[in-house]
Amino acid sequence: MQRGKTAPAGLEEQALADIVLAWYDRERRHLPWRAAPHQKSDPYCVWLSEIMLQQTTVKAVLPRYAVFLRRWPDVKALADADLGEVLATWAGLGYYARARNLHACARAVVEQHGGKFPATEAELRTLPGIGDYTAAAVAAIAYGQQATPVDGNIERVVARLFAVTTPLPGAKGEIRALAETLTPENRPGDFAQALMDLGATICTPRRPACGLCPLRLDCRGLAAGLAEVLPYREEKGERPVRRGAAFVAIRSDGAVLLRERPLRGLLGGMLETPSTPWEDAAPNGKSVRDHAPVEADWQKLPGLVEHTFTHFHLELSVYRAGVGLDAVPKREAEPERCRWLKLRDLAGAALPSVMRKVISHAVKAEAKPAARASSGPPRARRRSA
Ligand code: ADE
Repeated sequence: MQRGKTAPAGLEEQALADIVLAWYDRERRHLPWRAAPHQKSDPYCVWLSEIMLQQTTVKAVLPRYAVFLRRWPDVKALADADLGEVLATWAGLGYYARARNLHACARAVVEQHGGKFPATEAELRTLPGIGDYTAAAVAAIAYGQQATPVDGNIERVVARLFAVTTPLPGAKGEIRALAETLTPENRPGDFAQALMDLGATICTPRRPACGLCPLRLDCRGLAAGLAEVLPYREEKGERPVRRGAAFVAIRSDGAVLLRERPLRGLLGGMLETPSTPWEDAAPNGKSVRDHAPVEADWQKLPGLVEHTFTHFHLELSVYRAGVGLDAVPKREAEPERCRWLKLRDLAGAALPSVMRKVISHAVKAEAKPAARASSGPPRARRRSA
């Protein structure tokens, strides 16, 4: 039953929205930030979940959301929180600028809006860390505004439903315009979340379960035999590789030397093991030695620690040294940003995943003394291709 091609403008879209909403009422995922049917959502919960869900899966967010909400149950509590604690609680969710913006946004809501999130997309967009997507999601879900958030799931559902064959990211505008035509006046927040659920559970990137889809009779992608391959994507260039060396100094009392990264930029305000700059070429022996944070007998460990960020891939060689209680960071290591932290206390520290990998690499190598690669001053390591 292909729906009427002659239906008056708007009616067909409303019919599609009704089908999607009826499906949502039966099949919606029960997620802690969602209000029960006919209840109002809490804008703080909606905003917090939306920030956490950017580029992170629902599964990864669920336990972290629970911790955040227990610790900072409302926007005022989060605004009063210490930024270091927020960053530490965020650790592992990645994209740390989001955590800094989260804190800044909570402050702005308290200071500029009396502790109440504004209701319009335009006002929401003025807040730190709130872009087009989050503004639309909060406006629609928390305030019932007819706004259209378009995330990756919604993009896929809409591209298939309308058989959009223009590749992404060029197709973004076209897909957004189509999504806007579908957004109903009534329950726009439920409608957006229904499309998200449809994309996450049925209209999946691979092997979509079209037989279970409430839109299967209306899906032009399915009719054209394209549902599984849409949306098309332009070929991406390879990520550039950056290289550097990281230093893990372990004191005789089991503390490791860490340094706070500058507030601005990648992993801003988080802790790191002191490192050389990350550059195209691997650092040579002399410059590695210049960056060692304390005078010590640095051992270069075999292997590399690798980590992929959005815009580049990182390869770090790791140097380890055991040092005494009297070890003092060198001037070049910027001692005012350095601190010693016991290995057993690292779990709660604002330490990004890449730095956890570095420390774990050093600790594992320590547990296997045979893995000692060299002694004496560090030497450059040739990158294996
Ligand atoms: N992804 C982003 N926002 C979401 C939401 N509100 N529900 C489920 N998945 C989401």
